[in-house]
Amino acid sequence: MMPVQAPPVSSDKDRVTELFRVMLPYYLHERAHDWRFLAQQRRVCAMLSGRAGRALDIGCGSGLMTEALVERGWEVWGLDLLESAVAWASAEAEKASWGDRAHYVVGDAEALPFSTATFDTVIAMGVLEYLPDVHRFVSEVRRVLRPSGLLVVSVPSSIAPYHLAQSVLDRFVGPPYRGIRRLVTGSVRRSQIPDHPRHPLAPWRLDRVLARARFRKQAWAFSHFCFYPLDRFLPGLSRRIDRRCTVLEESSLLGWLGTQYIVAAVRRGELSPEAG
Ligand SMILES: C[S@@+](CC[C@H](N)C(=O)[O-])C[C@H]1O[C@@H](n2cnc3c(N)ncnc32)[C@H](O)[C@@H]1O
Repeated sequence: MMPVQAPPVSSDKDRVTELFRVMLPYYLHERAHDWRFLAQQRRVCAMLSGRAGRALDIGCGSGLMTEALVERGWEVWGLDLLESAVAWASAEAEKASWGDRAHYVVGDAEALPFSTATFDTVIAMGVLEYLPDVHRFVSEVRRVLRPSGLLVVSVPSSIAPYHLAQSVLDRFVGPPYRGIRRLVTGSVRRSQIPDHPRHPLAPWRLDRVLARARFRKQAWAFSHFCFYPLDRFLPGLSRRIDRRCTVLEESSLLGWLGTQYIVAAVRRGELSPEAG
């Protein structure tokens, strides 16, 4: 009898790369018009206003932030694990009039291929949740930022009703639903999305990590006010609810209803040896 071969074990990083390889068509052709991306882009640009210089976009994907940043006076470096996304972004920049102010590199957020104090700002939209060690990421960002440089990061908020409902329904309703479906139709539709690690963060946990790494919180906001599974079944209604909720983006009372937490924090100076 032939021995059964165990499937190859892949690291979390391989699984994240595979996820975004599969998702690439969305990032190339749809995300630029996706209201969720546009809401984040508007917020991130507002948080950067009044600053300029060199910007690093970590997890830049297909480079959707680059043009908006260049238009606001930044020279932009985009970095991503996924070679095909970086190749696309570079080709798009070559065709654009602003292409000489955009640079791309394949690389890992946890070991940035840049010297100390290279950038005036670092943005990281939708990448932190795929990394195993938030502290390591923040300390790498701190290293490449100049003193008083700004980090703007967006991450799914683990306290959002969306994520809470999703995990409860997936855990308790998903298995019986799939069981019944298998009985009735004889099959279960399998998701095209490969299994992957993803870690939403509580806003206060991210704030604490930043404070410990000597970043001063300067601004914050929530975005994406959608509710699971309404957004799956009634996307039009879900979009209308989100529009109404835009007023809550900076609300201390109800902002946490938003699924995405965006925070801007300034890199403070080093601790003096006496301060210990
Ligand atoms: C959700 S997408 C966001 C893309 C882009 N920031 C945007 O908002 O359109 C996350 C991106 O992070 C990249 N990524 C994931 N882990 C990474 C890592 N360790 N280092 C660099 N990039 C990473 C993925 O390849 C993917 O392009």
